[in-house]
Amino acid sequence: MKNILITGGAGFIGSHVVRLFVNSYPNYHIFNLDALTYAGNLENLKDVEQKQNYTFIKGDITDATFINSLFEAHQFDAVIHLAAESHVDRSIKEPLAFVKTNILGTINLLEAFKTIWNHDFSEKRFYHISTDEVYGTLGDTGLFTETTAYNPNSPYSASKASSDHFVRAYGETYGIPYVISNCSNNYGPNQFPEKLIPLFINNIINNKPLPVYGDGNYTRDWLYVIDHARAIDLVFNKGENKETYNIGGFNEWKNIDLVKLLCAQMDKKLGRSLGISEKLITYVKDRPGHDLRYAIDASKIKSELGWQPSVTFEEGLGLTINWYLENKEWLNHVTSGEYQDYYEKQYT
Ligand code: NAD
Ligand code: TYD
Repeated sequence: MKNILITGGAGFIGSHVVRLFVNSYPNYHIFNLDALTYAGNLENLKDVEQKQNYTFIKGDITDATFINSLFEAHQFDAVIHLAAESHVDRSIKEPLAFVKTNILGTINLLEAFKTIWNHDFSEKRFYHISTDEVYGTLGDTGLFTETTAYNPNSPYSASKASSDHFVRAYGETYGIPYVISNCSNNYGPNQFPEKLIPLFINNIINNKPLPVYGDGNYTRDWLYVIDHARAIDLVFNKGENKETYNIGGFNEWKNIDLVKLLCAQMDKKLGRSLGISEKLITYVKDRPGHDLRYAIDASKIKSELGWQPSVTFEEGLGLTINWYLENKEWLNHVTSGEYQDYYEKQYT
């Protein structure tokens, strides 16, 4: 039995990774460490909470004393680190929170891992989950590869870039066996409705305006979250030490085209006449430092680890909309803050 620490497992991507690992690997004991910030929600994991190989721990990665005692108690063989502040708009308002969680939190985990294994790292692994946003922005052409120079433009991406550098530095300096992956924009079930797709689904349901930043001609490369979790499984179990893997959907969309597709799919599912939801589109003031275009060259993970996305964007978006329509209670809880009561009821 290996003890695997997954941080941020109550969040959007983390919950899909926890579910996949708990169900696929009975020989791994999965410890999910999460501070349950506004973005963490144990309702995401109701289906795995009774499993024998799963333990939830509420705690903050910025608390070094707590992290050291946790590593001492459980002797984690590996860490899959997802816990982070993850929303660009929040980082513009509150950059220091991103420095604290994304940089200091990562260093605390690296320090604790280094201390418990004390230079004997055989069969150990520190897997850091990062973003394509560390590469900055592309113009109209080109793709981010694993060797593209870091050039972050938002406090969020700068904090993630810094954490990537610290992981690499701990690998070079102290010999920690690490692997990093940098993924494009995720979408799918359980995403907090502050990011583009779930926010717009929620607003369409409630007939609220759809705030498109600037002229809407910004491009993102979208990946269905379960395909990201599958990629994380492969990188964790088969990736090479000291390597970086770019993960993307081979799926670029201008925001405005994506929003129009979403509106059309929502009209159909809600039984509205085609064109009704599009009327909610409202152009608003642009985000400062808004990156024009992200697009990932995911050929390395495809050729070396045999990974590729399993669903098309139209399929993934359809599955996502269905999930939000079938889980209105989840949506109401996260928008009302009621979900925070869930932890109290479940664990105290
Ligand atoms: P999320 O915001 O949905 O979840 C983050 C989780 O981390 C939450 O459960 C939160 O409670 C927890 N957390 C926050 N601060 C913490 C702290 N101090 N201690 C312990 N737990 C804490 O984020 P997400 O979208 O699931 O992203 C997960 C990871 O993947 C992040 O590292 C992010 O940078 C990266 N990533 C996200 C995307 C994306 O499109 N969402 C794309 C590429 C990479
Ligand atoms: P977001 O989901 O915040 O992800 P990221 O900033 O990490 O790419 O935003 C995706 C794109 O959608 C980005 O170009 C900003 C844009 N956007 C809007 O136009 N309106 C919104 O209300 C939001 C949240 C995002």
